[in-house]
This record gives sequence, structure tokens and C-alpha cells, in this order.
Amino acid sequence: ISRHTAEVSPESPWNAYVRQDRVHRTLYTDEHVFNEEMVKVFGHTWVYLAHESQLPEPNSFVSTKLGLRPIVVTRDRHGELHAVFNRCAHRAATVCREEAGVAKSFQCPYHGWTFKNTGELVGAPWPQGYGADFDKSKFGLGKVTRVQSYRGFIFGTLSESAPSLPDYLGEAKPWLDYWIDRAPDGEVIVRSAAHRMGYRGNWKLAFDNAGDGYHPSFSHRSLLEMASRMGDSKDMSYFGKTPDDGPMKVYSLGNGHSVIDQRPNFEGPGSIWANQRPQPGREKFEELIRSKYPEDAERLLDVSAGAQINLSIFPNLLLIGNQIQVIEPLGVERTQLTWNATSIGGVPEEVNTMRMRTQEDFPAFGEPDDQANFEEVQRGLAVSEEEWILMNRGLNVEGWQTMDENGVVVTAVTDEIHMRGYYEEWLRLMNGEAK
Ligand code: FES
Ligand code: FE
Repeated sequence: ISRHTAEVSPESPWNAYVRQDRVHRTLYTDEHVFNEEMVKVFGHTWVYLAHESQLPEPNSFVSTKLGLRPIVVTRDRHGELHAVFNRCAHRAATVCREEAGVAKSFQCPYHGWTFKNTGELVGAPWPQGYGADFDKSKFGLGKVTRVQSYRGFIFGTLSESAPSLPDYLGEAKPWLDYWIDRAPDGEVIVRSAAHRMGYRGNWKLAFDNAGDGYHPSFSHRSLLEMASRMGDSKDMSYFGKTPDDGPMKVYSLGNGHSVIDQRPNFEGPGSIWANQRPQPGREKFEELIRSKYPEDAERLLDVSAGAQINLSIFPNLLLIGNQIQVIEPLGVERTQLTWNATSIGGVPEEVNTMRMRTQEDFPAFGEPDDQANFEEVQRGLAVSEEEWILMNRGLNVEGWQTMDENGVVVTAVTDEIHMRGYYEEWLRLMNGEAK
């Protein structure tokens, strides 16, 4: 089964590069492709910008990117969200050099033009130097035309014709809801400093990997072995000897999104603990919660554990356990990954402290495994005689894939359907095709 049957316009120059079972190496190495992606992929679809909790009060701001475009996401004094280009209307300097803060206006450090946090030009120094026809209203900061938040997740797009944000999220929405609803009152908070790592490789390598249930048993073997030594049970059945027959599944959700559902591995009595990766102090914590909050203990214990899904929202947002990870392309062979730890509202402090422990091991011990792969893949792609990257696992395999009435395909966790799925969306955007 493949839901990915969208007609590709026959004259598309990209057809030669994306086939049903493979993609061409130059999609990861060619500067021209990268520049086109920054315009057509990151410019024409909904891109995750920031979380609302990073803008907690009127006049808060946070600096971010939309593809290569530097952006400041702001709340105005009424609490409305905006996203302005962090690019002075005078001669393009960076108007806001801070990562985050509170400001009603930004003064460009170069020649001192000042802009409101909604983008309007307030004034330029020594105005007598401009002719009578200088019209301030024409020289505001450029704006991201559509900025929308879904339950705290702020996205922006430059496209007038992109579907609404909820439509774009589509079948990823119930998974995002599930992730958010684990927090009592649905309040997710991003406040701690980000964990940032750069790698020398193309941004798509991170997206290829996020929905990939094929690599963990190999790439993360040392982490999994540590977990089995330190945890209570955890043999390698975390991913299984034959994960294809195991309870974990990957779902291809459409619009480039996918999710790995690990929850079936964690079902059964006591499994909330038993299958967690090691969290020092867990046992004591459990005792404390049960004695201090007997009524509410099960729920509190549950939300203090890692969410067992990996949700990939095309092109740049990944929810991994309790963390929000953002892919930031810097150049054709240079990418930054930002991990934001999350806490939640409406729970005792101890719960958030324990929840933080679920967010320590992976960036420290797992992510370097992945990034080593990304850099080595990039090096391998320099072999110009070998042209293709395969994404054919699971394709035409009898009995693996089933499709529900909404077109969501569920299949074995090692199926490379997540790649085939997002490349369909990639192709549509690169071809400039409407939904
Ligand atoms: Fe900003 Fe000149 S570039 S004031
Ligand atoms: Fe990994």
C-alpha cells in the first residue's frame, strides 16, 4: 500500500531526483537545490517558529529563523503574535541581536533606525537628512504574512495559498494533541536554555532519521545497553530482536509528517517505570509521590515519564520524548539542531524535576550517535559515482502496511515509509504545486 501516489507533473525537473524507492545524492550536496529549498520548501509551507511559552508576557520576543531568514517572533502590547524579518529596512543589518527578552521596540545597531515590535518604523536619527518624500510607513520591517499558533506551537508561512495550519497538521494533529494533553490543563512550558548541536551535513539527514525505527538497535546500541544495565528490566527488547514483528509501529500521516509509536512497548502493569531509560532517583521519587499525593499519584507518575512517541512535522519540528527539537538549516552541508526541554503546568515541582531527567540522556548520549551518522553519510555522498540513497525498506512487502479510512498508513517500525512520505511533500513544494 502506498498513499503516496500524488501525480507529479511530468515536466518537473525534480522527477529525475526523487523516485519511488530512492533519492538522488545531489539533493543533499548541491547548493542550488539547497537554495531552492529555502525558498520553496521553507518559504511555502508552515514552518515551526517558537513556542508560546517563550513569549510569556506582552512585548516578549524570541529570535529564530524561517529557513535562512532571520526572524523575530514578537507579542505586541495587546498580546497578539507577529513574526518580523530581523533585517533592517535601511541596509539589512540585524535589528535585534538578543535571543529573547522583552522590548516594545528594536533599535538597529548600525545607524539607529527604530522599529516597533510589530514592525513599523518609528523613526530614523536626524530626520532632516531625508527628503520631504521620505514616508516612514513604507520602511517597516518585512513580516511573515501568516503566523498562527496551534495550542502553543507557533508556525509561520510566507504562502498565501497554503492550507490553514490545522489542515496542514492534518493527521499529525491527534498525535500533537496527545503529546500536549499529557500535561494537566495542556500547559507545556519551554523556559530552560536550549541544547544546541551543529553537524556538517544536510538538514534532511535529521528529518530522514527522526522517523527511522531501523537504526536505533545499531546506532544507539551503547545507550540501550547502558539502559539495560541500569534499568530494571530492559533487555534489548526495547527495540526487539525482530522489531518488524514487535509492537512498535511507524505511521505515515500525510503532508510529510510521520510518527513512531513506542507506547505499545510500555503497556502492562508497572511498565511506566520498568521500561524507562535509567533515571537516577526514580524509586525514591515514586515513593515520595505515592505518599504525598496518594489520590493523584498514577497520573503524576505518568506525566513525569517520557512521552513514548517520536513525532515528525515537516519540515523542521520533531517531538522526541518530552522534548521539542528544531532543525535549522544553515547551509547545504551545515545544520543546527536545537533541543528545548519542556516542563508542564499544574504539577508539583518534584514532578517537573523528575521529568527533566527524561530529557538529559538523549541529547548527551544518543544524539552524538546520530550526528556521527549524519556527518559520515554526508562524506559518503561525496562519492559521485554512487548516485542514490535508498528508501525502499518495506516497499512492496507483503503484510506490512495497512491504511485507515483517513489514508494514514501504519507499518513495521523499520519501514522507510516516513522518507517516501515526506519526499512526496518535498516534491510537491519544489514543483510549486498547489494542494
Ligand atoms: Fe539598520 Fe542602517 S542598517 S539603520
Ligand atoms: Fe537516533
